[in-house]
Amino acid sequence: MKVAVTLLVVLCVFTWSVDAKRKQRKNKAFQTQILSGEEENSANNCAKVCSGTTGRGVTDYQDYNDGVNVYVDVDMSGVDAKRKQRKNKAFQTQILSGEEENSANNCAKVCSGTTGRRVTDYQDYNDGVNVFVDVDMSGCAFVKIPNVVISVEGNSSHWTALGTSSVYIATPSSFRVYLANSEAGVKKDQLNTESYQWNIDWVAVGFTC
Ligand SMILES: *[C@@H]1O[C@H](CO)[C@@H](O)[C@H](O)[C@H]1NC(C)=O
Repeated sequence: MKVAVTLLVVLCVFTWSVDAKRKQRKNKAFQTQILSGEEENSANNCAKVCSGTTGRGVTDYQDYNDGVNVYVDVDMSGVDAKRKQRKNKAFQTQILSGEEENSANNCAKVCSGTTGRRVTDYQDYNDGVNVFVDVDMSGCAFVKIPNVVISVEGNSSHWTALGTSSVYIATPSSFRVYLANSEAGVKKDQLNTESYQWNIDWVAVGFTC
């Protein structure tokens, strides 16, 4: 009996691991791809997603002459990460720095979404023109605050909106976007119509464990 149970467990673990490996092999068709860069492309297995933040409350702002305008030099050298990448190409996703302490590399994940054409839940920000959107990314299953990059996709006028790259109050499962539309002259109730179809496209890089 004991032997039979042991054999069954071994068989299950073996089957699971073979299946996982097969899937991994299938997916090895390069999950990260660079179509064009500033320099000549390297091989696909050298491609990598790397993400970071200058950090809440600790960003090194330097004065640009007047005490108001500033600049920031962002370090993405990650020398240690480069060595690890060479050793183990499995980690094509790397987070150099996040809003919270890093987890292990194999917990890093890239997750992307959109709030959707014509279905984005715009909420009035006081005047029927400026709006905000609460974006749900709970499906990514992040356990720590990810690094979030956004843009606004749509059919017209969104190029004059303000706030299209500003991420507010990010949590592991959500963030908020405010859009100032006075310049664009588009009212909240028009944003989901055929002429506009504004929606928030986002890419988040974070830890799932
Ligand atoms: C985009 O907006 C224009 C009006 O600016 C409209 O004529 C056109 O049908 C819209 N395109 C799509 C694909 O909805």
